[in-house]
Amino acid sequence: MVEQLRRDFAPPQVDVEEAGRIMETFSRGHSSEGRRVVLITSGGTKVPLESRTVRFLDNFSSGRRGAASAEYFLRADYAVIFLHRHRSLFPYSRRYSNQNWLDSLRLLPVPAGEEPRVEAEPNCLPGIVPVLEEYERMKGARRMLSLEYHTLSDYLHLLLAAARALSPLGSNAMFYLAAAVSDFYIPASEMPEHKIQSSSGPLQITMKMVPKMLSPLVKDWAPKAFVISFKLETDPEILIERARKALETYRHQVVVANVLDTRRSYVMVVTNTEDTKLFVSDKEESLGIEIEDKIINDLTSRHTNFIKQTSTYSQSNQGL
Ligand code: PMT
Repeated sequence: MVEQLRRDFAPPQVDVEEAGRIMETFSRGHSSEGRRVVLITSGGTKVPLESRTVRFLDNFSSGRRGAASAEYFLRADYAVIFLHRHRSLFPYSRRYSNQNWLDSLRLLPVPAGEEPRVEAEPNCLPGIVPVLEEYERMKGARRMLSLEYHTLSDYLHLLLAAARALSPLGSNAMFYLAAAVSDFYIPASEMPEHKIQSSSGPLQITMKMVPKMLSPLVKDWAPKAFVISFKLETDPEILIERARKALETYRHQVVVANVLDTRRSYVMVVTNTEDTKLFVSDKEESLGIEIEDKIINDLTSRHTNFIKQTSTYSQSNQGL
């Protein structure tokens, strides 16, 4: 897998070694304080069609699931590594992503010669005070490490680096893979260098399958960690079957299954032994309750049980 990453993908645009060191220091520090660490992946991926890229294949993911989830993990006292796509939604600021910030700010009149002053208009930013308070608390506690990826290659390399950094934490590490990662790519050696010309007629491209990172992640890179993958479908009829298939194939702990149109209000948490439906009613939604609150509540208690089970198992194996 590592060899394929080197051979087929353009070199990452980020300094992966440095990112690995930062993740390692962050995880070790929090782990030594008895805190669990979760890696959240968030947002879509962009796959270039040309080396000097003009066009690329993209997907719908806004990164809202990952950004909202980060907030609830922080509330649950986890340390969070937030690996997200450049410019996708970010914890806390996500709530105001649909508006023009300039409309929320006002220039204050000041005497000539004084520094200009700017004031925020709270009415334009509903609920901003508690959001800002929580954001500042979180920042002060340094419990979130934010890392960005630009390309699919960045994502794949950074996920490997994160797995290596978190592996020493054993079952106290959680992987929450909410990113919508492309299944297809063009190997670097087969990619045209220059802009594809429309004068050559209709475009036909053959793309290769992106290696599924889940397999080596679970088997080799962080074999003791608690791993959650996501499964998105547009056809609800095949959702559970696809989630079960993923559990069988990769042998990790949980799949959170969702359907494109209803993903904000309904998910199914699928494990080897049960399916748990989580949903947010219209009434709950009007009260500001989010599905990610319920997902994280469910998963953190599963994680606690997982840690207990794995420590009981290893004690009984040592004859304790
Ligand atoms: O961002 P939002 O707009 O809020 O939307 C959230 C979401 C719908 C994107 C999210 O809830 C979700 O479902 N994400 C996963 C989408 C999906 O179906 O992924 P997949 O089947 O291609 O991959 C399965 C799992 O393997 C995913 O957890 C993925 O992150 C991971 N994966 C996939 C391919 C790959 N090469 N490496 C991976 O780690």
